[in-house]
Amino acid sequence: MNKFKNATAVITGAGSGIGRALAISLASRGCHLALSDVDIKTLEETRNLISHYAVKVSLSQLDVADKEAVFNYAQNVQTEFGSINLVINNAGVALSSGTFENTSLEEFEWLMSINFSGVLYGTKAFLPLLKQADWGHIVNISSLFGIIGVGGQSAYNASKFAVRGMTESLRQELDKTSPTVSCTSVHPGGVKTKIAANSRGGDKRPKKGDAFYMGEPEDFEKLAATTSESASEQILNAVIKNKRRLLIGKDAKLMDWVQRHFPNRYPSIFFGIVKLLSGKK
Ligand SMILES: NC(=O)c1ccc[n+]([C@@H]2O[C@H](COP(=O)([O-])OP(=O)(O)OC[C@H]3O[C@@H](n4cnc5c(N)ncnc54)[C@H](O)[C@@H]3O)[C@@H](O)[C@H]2O)c1
Repeated sequence: MNKFKNATAVITGAGSGIGRALAISLASRGCHLALSDVDIKTLEETRNLISHYAVKVSLSQLDVADKEAVFNYAQNVQTEFGSINLVINNAGVALSSGTFENTSLEEFEWLMSINFSGVLYGTKAFLPLLKQADWGHIVNISSLFGIIGVGGQSAYNASKFAVRGMTESLRQELDKTSPTVSCTSVHPGGVKTKIAANSRGGDKRPKKGDAFYMGEPEDFEKLAATTSESASEQILNAVIKNKRRLLIGKDAKLMDWVQRHFPNRYPSIFFGIVKLLSGKK
């Protein structure tokens, strides 16, 4: 049975990467789509890629960090589509501003407002609407960096650990209280997308030889282990199987294992692997 046929899905950050791949895969399965992104141009490109599917698609320019806009958007989607089954809080950004001391409060707040508050608002605004449907599921995109702490990534780590904590807590509550709505915390390792190329950091970005250097942003797409298409298939399968947690990619599975078995030594193992990979390119 195709769970997604004639269902309605909401995807934030659908103009690129994992969000775009999810939109394409869901459209091919007959799912109606409320797509949003802060960048309307790339969102229109996504729509062009799915225009041959017989599904209803709405496009909205939405900044997930804008609380009022997200709550208004949720009501508009409910009015337009009648019912909502799947919400994928996917929009996110990266920051390569070096160490915690080099990262300004403004940079911290900017990143948290998108990567954490955006997910919080999306979850809060849509949960009551999902409860009105036959079935409902929330997918919150955290990261491998929501499982391991990484030097030079304090703000991103904070946001992704927060997404995981909130989602795991909500999942326990929904398991006890809601027979029709569930949620999944998703932890991708490297996925070949524009996230690194679009990251902020400027001159503060760690350089080759610096302690927390993780390679050049333009090389990220080559080095990342997983394609967006594969990531999106795994996410939709996790919804079908109602998984609590999804790790995406061999890198995420390996580092999850390493941090559980070597909780004090995993950082040096992680940067050893990064050095090996970025030296290879
Ligand atoms: N690519 C990876 O390796 C990787 C790994 C772990 C987690 N993730 C997470 O996956 C999610 C998707 O990222 P991606 O890799 O596809 O990156 P991407 O840069 O290709 O796509 C992110 C999308 O989010 C949009 N966006 C950015 N700020 C926004 C805002 N304020 N409001 C609405 N939309 C906004 C961008 O315009 C873009 O279309 C993010 O949450 C990211 O943190 C990615």
